[in-house]
Amino acid sequence: MRVLITGGAGFIGSHLAEAHLNKGDEVYVIDDLSTGFLDNIAGLQKEKRFKDRFFVTVDSILNHEKMLELVGICDQVYHLAAAVGVLYVLAHPFESIRTNIQGTEKVLELCNKFKKRVLITSSSEVYGKHLHAPLVETDNVIYGPSTKFRWSYAASKLMDEFMALAYHRTNGLDVVIARLFNTVGPRQTGAYGMVIPRFVGQALEGKALTVYGDGKQTRTFTYVKDVVDALMGLMASPDATGQVFNVGGTEEISIESLARKIIAMTGSDSTIEYIPYDVAFAKDFEDMRRRVPSIQKIKDCIGFEPKTDLNGILENVIKFMSERKGTIYR
Ligand SMILES: NC(=O)c1ccc[n+]([C@@H]2O[C@H](COP(=O)([O-])OP(=O)(O)OC[C@H]3O[C@@H](n4cnc5c(N)ncnc54)[C@H](O)[C@@H]3O)[C@@H](O)[C@H]2O)c1
Repeated sequence: MRVLITGGAGFIGSHLAEAHLNKGDEVYVIDDLSTGFLDNIAGLQKEKRFKDRFFVTVDSILNHEKMLELVGICDQVYHLAAAVGVLYVLAHPFESIRTNIQGTEKVLELCNKFKKRVLITSSSEVYGKHLHAPLVETDNVIYGPSTKFRWSYAASKLMDEFMALAYHRTNGLDVVIARLFNTVGPRQTGAYGMVIPRFVGQALEGKALTVYGDGKQTRTFTYVKDVVDALMGLMASPDATGQVFNVGGTEEISIESLARKIIAMTGSDSTIEYIPYDVAFAKDFEDMRRRVPSIQKIKDCIGFEPKTDLNGILENVIKFMSERKGTIYR
């Protein structure tokens, strides 16, 4: 099997590439390194057993000729390339919308042209400002106004879903959509606001852990290897075609409790510092108070359930970051 992974030098993409290489597949990656790093896949590039079946292109998914070539030669496409992270999207508003909308349109157009199966990674952000839990795939979406720019990421991912479903309905495109909730693990960078690598990095340095807002907002976290299993399971399941699936964990924790847990697990003497949202992000910033998925649908379809609990996730991230002082990860 030949697999194309857009955004394959990113955090999740690099783990997905590794899993497909270990399965014996031929893996093609395209990444413009805007938030990804060649270091994420350097180990895979060095492995002798992957030498003749791992191919990396540093370019944008907006490059039509390059994408034409790559989609043409691969059997399946995982589309992960996107402008990711609230801080990144706020700092690069126009490029983010262009990558997330035009880039996905390009991927879908070419997958339709060559009749290739494609998995689109969407986000729990598409649900918007819900207070209830768990979030079900058929729930309404609730956004703030377009003047509050953080919603542009959610709206762009929602538009990706609409485009994918439209291609499926009108052209029969073989497509599946995975709405990822907070995915964490080794190789995730804290540079764009992702909370676990940021907190672990701060705790290991003995700095204050910076909690945004009152810290009472809650999240669930899913280990990246569990997410990779879910993505590969959805890709392999004909029953998943033309549908949207939540992919996430079910262990809900407040950000304040997460900070305390990380301080305890690292044995750090760090304190907690609360930073108002308008200082951390932008004036009138709106956050989601809760974000907990129902995973019944993906469980019924492919039997997915996360295997790694929060303690296991944190142990792995702390170990990874402890060993990498002075690298891009810390
Ligand atoms: N990590 C999470 O918690 C999470 C949650 C919800 C959804 N997602 C989605 O999962 C996917 C992967 O996210 P990630 O966490 O691995 O982030 P990431 O930033 O590590 O990966 C995204 C990759 O896409 C690349 N990229 C961006 N624009 C590109 C372009 N124009 N052409 C080629 N490559 C480009 C980046 O360089 C990066 O390597 C994204 O689509 C993201 O929206 C992630």
